Amino acid sequence: METQTAVRANGGLEGVIAAETRLSMVDGERGELIVAGHRLEQLAGRTFEDVLALLWDAAGHSGSRVRAAALRASTLALLRDAAARRVAPMDALRMAAGTLTAEDDAEAAHLLVGSFPTIVAAYARLLRGEEPLAPRESLGLAANYLYMSSGSEPHAELVRGLETYLTTVADHGFNASTFTARVIVSTGSDFVSAVTGAIGALKGPLHGGAPGPALDMVFEIGDASRAESVLRRKLEGGERLMGFGHRIYKVRDPRADVLAAAAARMFSRAGDLELYELARAVETKALELLEEYKPGRRIKTNVEFYTALLLCGLDLDTAFFAPTFAIGRVAGWTAHCFEQRALGRLIRPQSAYVGRIPA
Ligand code: COA
Repeated sequence: METQTAVRANGGLEGVIAAETRLSMVDGERGELIVAGHRLEQLAGRTFEDVLALLWDAAGHSGSRVRAAALRASTLALLRDAAARRVAPMDALRMAAGTLTAEDDAEAAHLLVGSFPTIVAAYARLLRGEEPLAPRESLGLAANYLYMSSGSEPHAELVRGLETYLTTVADHGFNASTFTARVIVSTGSDFVSAVTGAIGALKGPLHGGAPGPALDMVFEIGDASRAESVLRRKLEGGERLMGFGHRIYKVRDPRADVLAAAAARMFSRAGDLELYELARAVETKALELLEEYKPGRRIKTNVEFYTALLLCGLDLDTAFFAPTFAIGRVAGWTAHCFEQRALGRLIRPQSAYVGRIPA
């Protein structure tokens, strides 16, 4: 028996260019994000529906405006059952997304984007023992999500905060969940399957599952004077600080600035900047200590840190942070599904066999 001498694999595919896309460009050295031909900062003030239209348009799909979709009976029945079993919200979203059926790609994309706010809000209510609410015709996707979660029409400033969040996270290059969706579509499979798989990829703490723990960390610190001791203990114990570090960004994630500004606006309006100021102090100390413990690794604040703060300001439970991320990112997933469909090429890389070769 001999072992094959393998070409060394790049397990994380760092730097591998797997496709051409018109949807977004992430420049990790300059801290720049371009979405469908617009710099992230230029999208400030646009609605989530506007950014969705930009993305779909760039992917070659022009469709009518997406409205929040009412839940189908089968989806609602599944959510009721999941809530009775206290299934985690991301799992409930994955299961509920899997109940959606459509005749074609365009219908599936509309249904997915329009159903996510309704599914997530309904599940939040069911877990609290409340009945789900139907979407209101007069409200856009962001406002409807807040309305269907809380039961009252949200203040314009809160809607603005959520619009900023959803547009900021709508698309971000070839991240793990987007890649997952594209691999699935590349086999000729349907958009619902692709997006359901993408939810599974987003759920992991190294991708979309970080904001909940990032906020927990800020709460655990509780007071700026404790930041240094708590963060040192974590780093010395080999823990990762949630909300810091990125595979691509080696400077500050531009999304963190946009979200920090939106969070500051929201908290100032509510007249309580205490949590915002604590988060700022934790961030400053964390960056200082990351440089001390991990010199040269260039670990900077990522999108999740201020996501946590913003979503907390919207009164969302931490367990619903990742599903809310999915409400925004499904815009990018569906756009990538259209782009991949048009490309029509199976994604099928190779592996380097390092096992034994029989004699
Ligand atoms: N806290 C402490 N150390 C960190 C860190 C963090 N948040 N992120 C990276 N590091 C360290 C690693 O321990 C490693 O140290 P070593 O060289 O001594 O072994 C080094 O930095 C490189 O890390 P690596 O895992 O190779 O980088 P990556 O490109 O795979 O990491 C993430 C990207 C996002 C997975 C990573 O930064 C992380 O786990 N961050 C925390 C979770 C998070 O916020 N996720 C949301 C991403 S948007």
